[in-house]
Amino acid sequence: MTFTKRILTVSASILALAMPVAATEFRIAVGDGAGGTQEALGKAFVSALQEQSGGEMSAQLFLNGQLGDEQDTVSALATGTLDFSILAINNLTPFSPSVGTLTLPYVILSQDDAEAITQGEVGQRMVEQTIEDAGVRIVGWGYSGFRVLTNSRRPVETVADLQGLQIRTPRNEIMIETYKAWGINPTPMAWSETFAALQQGVVHGQDNPYMTVYAMKFDEVQSYITNIRYVFSIEPLIVSEALFESLTPDQQAQILAAGEAATQASADFLRAEEAKIRDELVARGMKISDPADGEAEFMALATAHVWPKFYDQIGGKDVLNTVLASLGRPAVE
Ligand code: MLT
Repeated sequence: MTFTKRILTVSASILALAMPVAATEFRIAVGDGAGGTQEALGKAFVSALQEQSGGEMSAQLFLNGQLGDEQDTVSALATGTLDFSILAINNLTPFSPSVGTLTLPYVILSQDDAEAITQGEVGQRMVEQTIEDAGVRIVGWGYSGFRVLTNSRRPVETVADLQGLQIRTPRNEIMIETYKAWGINPTPMAWSETFAALQQGVVHGQDNPYMTVYAMKFDEVQSYITNIRYVFSIEPLIVSEALFESLTPDQQAQILAAGEAATQASADFLRAEEAKIRDELVARGMKISDPADGEAEFMALATAHVWPKFYDQIGGKDVLNTVLASLGRPAVE
């Protein structure tokens, strides 16, 4: 077997209670801590999987990167040593560059955009491409909201305010280039090392959605938030393709149906919770600013400098234009 399969030994007394017992229990790696959108997506998936399979399949969540850093879990799925992972799309991009279209700055401008792209034809093509490139299959989509900028030093409203701050980014070329377009050299770093680096002052700031800032308790080490909206964080639920292929057609269909249910639950969760979590971060002392001029300066620099650099990597300018067209936006020349 290329995946974790645990046959649960059930004592006679438990059997007597006729409790449903999962014959197969998968392991799901989750990068973030409790209370965020990754956990919500994972819980919804587990409950839908149990329901779809009549209790024959279940799964356990391992939060806070216990099973490895997000990027490492992609390799573990590809080699079949791990079953599922929930991670930010930017940490999947290095393994399947076409997914990078979703990380290009200012392509996704709302939660509606994020849902339309991932659940439509473009999303389906990304599912297929990711299987081919990385040996992992996206079976559900989580939505975490815009990656806002946090830092420990000062309010940031303009590109000038950003200068001199040491900002952590994921090891993702598109995001690194975005900060370069804004005039600073960011510090690429694994997600699992980020809290400690912020705490020790190795870096002054980072960007992630409100939901993630809360789930990771970044309010303990960061004071300021800027509502930039350059990337809307999408958090796919991925399964090892080797594992998926080893299942029966019925089991595969149950996993896909559970993934669809979890996708909807994630969209609902973000709509219901994001404003409450933002207020909670303010109650914990974080100060929130909006970028000056409706973010025009951040947006103009990022789109002009970053988009053209990545056309080849995402599969050509046409790929971006297909995404823009599906959102009713004009093509780039
Ligand atoms: C990152 O910044 O590496 C990711 O967005 C973290 C996450 O998955 O929440």
